[in-house]
Amino acid sequence: MENNREQFGSRLGFILAAAGSAVGIGNLVGFPVNAAKNGGAAFLLIYALFVFLVCLPVMMAELAAGRQSRKNPLGAYRHFVPQQKLWHIGGWLSLITPYMIAVFYAVITVWILGYLSGIVTGNLDKLADSRHFGEFINSDSVFFYLAAITGLVGLILVSGVRDGIERGAKVMMPALFLMLLGLVVFVLFQDNALAGVRFYLIPDIGKITPEVVNSAMGQAFFSLSLGMGILITYGSYMDKANAIPSSARMVAITDTSVAFTAGLLILPAIFSFNPETNPDELSSSSISLIFTFLPKIFLAMQAAVGYFGASLVAGVFFLLVFFAALTSLVSIIEVPVSGTMDELGYSRRKSLYVLGTSMVLFALACALSFGRVDFLTSFISYGGSTKSFFELVIDIFYETILPLNGFIICLLVALRWQRDKFDRELEAGADDFRGTLFERYINFSLRTFVPVLLLLIFINTVMAKYFGISLLNLFA
Ligand code: TRP
Repeated sequence: MENNREQFGSRLGFILAAAGSAVGIGNLVGFPVNAAKNGGAAFLLIYALFVFLVCLPVMMAELAAGRQSRKNPLGAYRHFVPQQKLWHIGGWLSLITPYMIAVFYAVITVWILGYLSGIVTGNLDKLADSRHFGEFINSDSVFFYLAAITGLVGLILVSGVRDGIERGAKVMMPALFLMLLGLVVFVLFQDNALAGVRFYLIPDIGKITPEVVNSAMGQAFFSLSLGMGILITYGSYMDKANAIPSSARMVAITDTSVAFTAGLLILPAIFSFNPETNPDELSSSSISLIFTFLPKIFLAMQAAVGYFGASLVAGVFFLLVFFAALTSLVSIIEVPVSGTMDELGYSRRKSLYVLGTSMVLFALACALSFGRVDFLTSFISYGGSTKSFFELVIDIFYETILPLNGFIICLLVALRWQRDKFDRELEAGADDFRGTLFERYINFSLRTFVPVLLLLIFINTVMAKYFGISLLNLFA
């Protein structure tokens, strides 16, 4: 069944593209702050255990499902279970989820671009004003930036897997690593930086509660792009000669290293320029950190390096975040694009037009839901609060449904994928994988505790978010 499906050109290209998908705002800001608040190195250790013991098997299952079926997520579920339609729900969920995540992530990427251009044009001082964010997201300039992002993502995706996605990742990811390292070195040389490092890395086991374990698990799962159909889709573009086990491991290592390294940037920066900070009081929302807190920190650097120097550091940081967001956005839009290409027989260009137009309309609905249009601003009430359209999309598709999608793929492996066929797919291109402990671990975990854990996380989130009932308190 080796049709003329597009393929990644090299193993490195695949790894960079998948790491580009995984590395996002969550790694750069969410992870460091979460770690600092929740036990430092103790959190880091729990996070790393989850990445390698729970998430890596799911990642390999998704890649194998894509590569064996050579299809988008829906096509993959149909490939494995042609008759029983109930299973196809798993495929549909893995198409709708990325579609909706793309919608709100596009809005966040638009803001990042807006801030980047604000810094480049010499307006860091304005961005650091607390009122700026609220004004900016309701200003007309977001429409301009939305058009720019749509054009840019369209340009990358219309060029296809090798010339678009892979080439983009090969440029943006190395640039991202370099900028990150450069900023870390700069920040570590500032006064007081070590206070931040200490806060970040000294383990505090006492802070590890069931809630914290749950959030480390969730963070690890989201960070690796699992449950979004992305790895199924990218797997379908993988060459059989490229090893899944070692490539997946590289992606997990890269993603975790970037998150870890970002902590060496964010926390020292906060402590150096604001030594009084109490990390417990930092917002746990990546959005308010990036758009309201960090610009202040960058502006404070002007005492040490002048306004231009501060703007330069801030500019590099926002460019870094922009690359991280753009590679994630590209990967997630590719999922429904490959879906319509496979299932409806559309050309890449036609898929992009059809999906792009409808996504932009949804993105506009998000962009207007911060006070501009009442109906969208107070869209719905649940769990004791009123939510905007934007918040609803995040709650459902980002915070709730991903573990469910992960659970379903585990069920597919356990119930509908013959063990030897699954093993053979993982062994293709990885001769040394056969018969290893690693192979046995992957099989064991995907059929036992991984689906159980994912299902528990899903149920817990639903209860907490929509019914205000915290199951974790039962253990506390
Ligand atoms: N790691 C991403 C983040 O930190 C989460 C993510 C993974 C993501 N894949 C994605 C977000 C694809 C958007 C699109 O933000």
